[in-house]
Amino acid sequence: MTRIVYLNGNWLPEADAKVSIFDRGFLFADAIYEVTGVVGGKLLEYPGHSARLQRSTAELGIACPLTPDALLEVHREIVRRNELREGLIYLQISRGTADRDFAFPENPTPTLTLFTQAKPVLDNPKVATGISVALLPDQRWARRDIKTVQLLYPSMAKMEAMAKGADDAWLVEDGFVTEASSATAHIITEDGKLVTRGLSNAILHGITRASVLDIAGKAGIEFEERAFTPDEAKNAAEAFITSATNFVLPVTEIDGRPVGEGKPGPRTLRLRKLYIEQKLAEAL
Ligand code: PDD
Repeated sequence: MTRIVYLNGNWLPEADAKVSIFDRGFLFADAIYEVTGVVGGKLLEYPGHSARLQRSTAELGIACPLTPDALLEVHREIVRRNELREGLIYLQISRGTADRDFAFPENPTPTLTLFTQAKPVLDNPKVATGISVALLPDQRWARRDIKTVQLLYPSMAKMEAMAKGADDAWLVEDGFVTEASSATAHIITEDGKLVTRGLSNAILHGITRASVLDIAGKAGIEFEERAFTPDEAKNAAEAFITSATNFVLPVTEIDGRPVGEGKPGPRTLRLRKLYIEQKLAEAL
């Protein structure tokens, strides 16, 4: 089935959606994005994604072409038009099209695109085994709090991790884990405390992360927001990642060493269950 995608107010078959070679998203990675999970044809965590989108555009001085309510309607419409039951919606806003110049153009018209990707997200076979990660240096830019499409280094890191036989990379800077290539990194210590890095420009402010901390607090799982070292991660009882389509996904191996007993940890699996239950109940 060919997808129907959204481009600047138009609904088009995917092959007909074309963006200029002068688009600053293409020339300068001058664009931001959001990924929203979809289950049962409903949007997960939409308010969080909408708020972060507003923040990312504001940080870059990109004018958001639609109001939050209108954007929500576009998300719902793209689900309807593609009969999407499970998967994700990708949204991107670039500053727009202008002759190539490092200075931002005056009053450009932003390019707004959305497309869907259908895939099973609830029944992830990796939940049963956990994923393996390789520790690699974090060589991204310093404003990781803005969700830009500047994703070449995370992509290179993912390839390097895979070349080492791992599923993903955990990035390390100044002796501390920052995050995964496209997810937030968390550990659970031997004494049962969830540890996740505090918010700063060093990491993306994960929407799933915020919800998981909230759920952990209510479930009586103590948590601490602080940076942790690669050694702490290797010696943790449990480890996991969070993101819009992975939800809470166990990490069972770090640099070839098993985490805990080398299988998904009970607290991680409990958090995944609680997270999915709550977010399905709140889905829009
Ligand atoms: N990535 N950190 C990074 C670097 C990310 O790219 C992501 C998400 C996250 C988790 O954020 P959230 O919980 O809001 O999805 C953390 C998306 C899913 C992607 O690039 O596909």
